Amino acid sequence: MPALLFVCLGNICRSPLAEGIFRHTLEQAGLADRVTLDFAGTGAWHAGNPPDPRSIEVAARHGIDISGQRARQVTGGDFSRFDWILAMDRDNLSALRRKDPRHPHLRLFLDNPDRDVPDPYYGGPEGFDRVFEMLEEGSRRFLEQLQLR
Ligand code: 4NP
Repeated sequence: MPALLFVCLGNICRSPLAEGIFRHTLEQAGLADRVTLDFAGTGAWHAGNPPDPRSIEVAARHGIDISGQRARQVTGGDFSRFDWILAMDRDNLSALRRKDPRHPHLRLFLDNPDRDVPDPYYGGPEGFDRVFEMLEEGSRRFLEQLQLR
């Protein structure tokens, strides 16, 4: 069973949303039990915390509950546990590459064309809507790429 890890910086805005949206996409396709999902941050400041209220809110508006998620930092073990390590932006990607230069499926989540999911933390609520749309489209594409059917 493929195991996917979504990674951002603080682990409270983008990656919990990515996990929730991808889970929702899987559920709608009847494939929820076919993939293992988790999310983590390159930074540790928010470890143990729930997602940012703005991420919880945008997810809830689309019928997705991410309020029970808790942040954690990426660990060395993640590189062997996860088949796919999906970075939200290029900074996250380079931080992950430094930890494991050889992981075969470490990439930007949105890689066709290569696009960063922008960090919405210091911006307004519209940034979270934009992130939601990018992650929703990315989830559909990535699910097709996984070819589970
Ligand atoms: P995230 O956003 O990487 O999408 O979770 C951030 C959240 C918090 C911080 C940075 C980015 N921070 O510096 O605390």
